[in-house]
Amino acid sequence: MPAVVRTVAELRAATAAAGTVALVPTMGALHDGHASLMRHARPLADTLVVSIFVNPTQFAPGEDLDAYPRTFEADLERCAAEGVDVVFAPTVEQMYPHGLEDQITVDPGPRATLLEGAQRPTHFRGVLTVVAKLFSLVRPDVAVFGEKDYQQLSLVRLMARELCLGVEVVGCPTVREADGLAMSSRNRYLSGSDRERAAAISAALRAGVDAGPDGPEAVLHAAEKVLADAGIDPDYLVLTSPDLGPAQPGREARLLVAARVGQPRLLDNCAVSLGNPADGGK
Ligand code: PAF
Repeated sequence: MPAVVRTVAELRAATAAAGTVALVPTMGALHDGHASLMRHARPLADTLVVSIFVNPTQFAPGEDLDAYPRTFEADLERCAAEGVDVVFAPTVEQMYPHGLEDQITVDPGPRATLLEGAQRPTHFRGVLTVVAKLFSLVRPDVAVFGEKDYQQLSLVRLMARELCLGVEVVGCPTVREADGLAMSSRNRYLSGSDRERAAAISAALRAGVDAGPDGPEAVLHAAEKVLADAGIDPDYLVLTSPDLGPAQPGREARLLVAARVGQPRLLDNCAVSLGNPADGGK
């Protein structure tokens, strides 16, 4: 079993002679997607730390902070199975000892105003602030994040670079259910028919990838059609460059989608190779 540490002092003691450290930050409710992050991180350092902390500052009032699934005992079993050395599971008081008001926070910059940030204006300030705190506390050499939350991964990378945090940020491919649905802690809130419909989100991305050689408009058109056929009205469906700028014909791009299916709001994204119709496409 991993050592379970709940305070900063215990964390310091548990990592004092740790050698190199890899960190997988999580909010718990661990699933196969998290297990793949741990598996990816395990060989990257001497000591593997997983943090489990449901961070209140990345939830806006009215979002699902209280309802967010908490499955600590099962999470520990999963960490043990993946060879995790230390589970850091702090309280809110340990992470925010001076309270949630009057804080110094990380300004996530303009990239955080797009996509998820347009829907959830305070979200990335909370995410980057807690990730910066976790980096300061755990002092990892490398930190591993999932590509499923692509904008989050992009912003964490940018923060590590811009604030010279000395942490290598590694992204891991999304792990999917057999029908393509991206694994997420919130999938458990999908009811029967919505669970079936939710597969259309990844199907839309695949249709977009297939249309890639025909250029950006064809990608969006193909993906929109799959969503519309499943009765899904996305919050956004966009094609960007890999760093979330404008997509360029003839280049690698990223197709990102967010949509509410029944109760949960689902996110997914994938890489697309764009042809350039102006050059005859394909
Ligand atoms: O992706 C998550 O689970 C969270 O946003 C993170 C990175 C652990 C920060 O709370």
